[in-house]
Amino acid sequence: MHNAAFALAGIDAVYLAFDVPPERLGAAVAGARALGVRQLAISIPHKEAVIAHLDEVDETARRIGAVNTVTWREGRLVGSNTDWIGVVRALESVRPLAGARAVVLGAGGAARAAVYGLVSRGARVVVLNRTPERARALAADLGADGAGELAALRTHPCDVIVNTTSVGLGEDRSPVEAAAIAPGALVLDAVYAPERTRLLRDAEARGARPIGGKWWLVHQAAEQFRLWTGREAPLETMAAAFDRAAGPQPT
Ligand code: ATR
Repeated sequence: MHNAAFALAGIDAVYLAFDVPPERLGAAVAGARALGVRQLAISIPHKEAVIAHLDEVDETARRIGAVNTVTWREGRLVGSNTDWIGVVRALESVRPLAGARAVVLGAGGAARAAVYGLVSRGARVVVLNRTPERARALAADLGADGAGELAALRTHPCDVIVNTTSVGLGEDRSPVEAAAIAPGALVLDAVYAPERTRLLRDAEARGARPIGGKWWLVHQAAEQFRLWTGREAPLETMAAAFDRAAGPQPT
């Protein structure tokens, strides 16, 4: 996605992927610092641990408790979080969020970004998780209105559902029963492989509106591009690059 955007914008830069084991994270960041690498996109499982290795972390990333983007600014490594923007923009491409009743499934780092984004846009948010205590702690910390277990989806009338659990990743399973999905709801899945997850197919069958995790990923990457270059990202070009990388999908 990034390389396609750079090519289109005529920017002489390249994104490369490195598989860094947790015990080498500090060395990897020190290496990037020594080399003057301009931006790092931080992925699982390093989004929290990387904070200790940075010069500065912006207010939003600190509140979310996770950094997915490190940008070199005048010799300092600055951490920020674009995951929350990815969720918000993917949803807002379909409907406004102010006043929307939203349910976030899961209580990990991705859930924190989603809850932060939804609350900051004025949605009323309930967090549901397999382990409800984690959902309650997250809800209290980030100002969501309620929390509970996944099965409680049935009892929460909602306009927006965001899945941040890993259920469905490389498997044909959904974190919730199809019957619990409110017809008319907008359903965003963080899982992007496969693109049409069980949850999204169930949503469609229930008369809800599915949005693939691809759009969350593309929008968060677009914000990374903007943070570094100061220019708006070519969204369609980045989405097309995602499609090429993902290859043909079953219909
Ligand atoms: P991330 O930081 O990517 O969000 P995480 O912190 O490992 O990842 O969180 C994974 C989320 O998926 C959690 O909400 C987890 O639920 P628990 O808090 O109960 O562990 C959820 N999850 C993982 N496997 C699950 C499963 N089989 N059924 C339901 N929820 C699951």
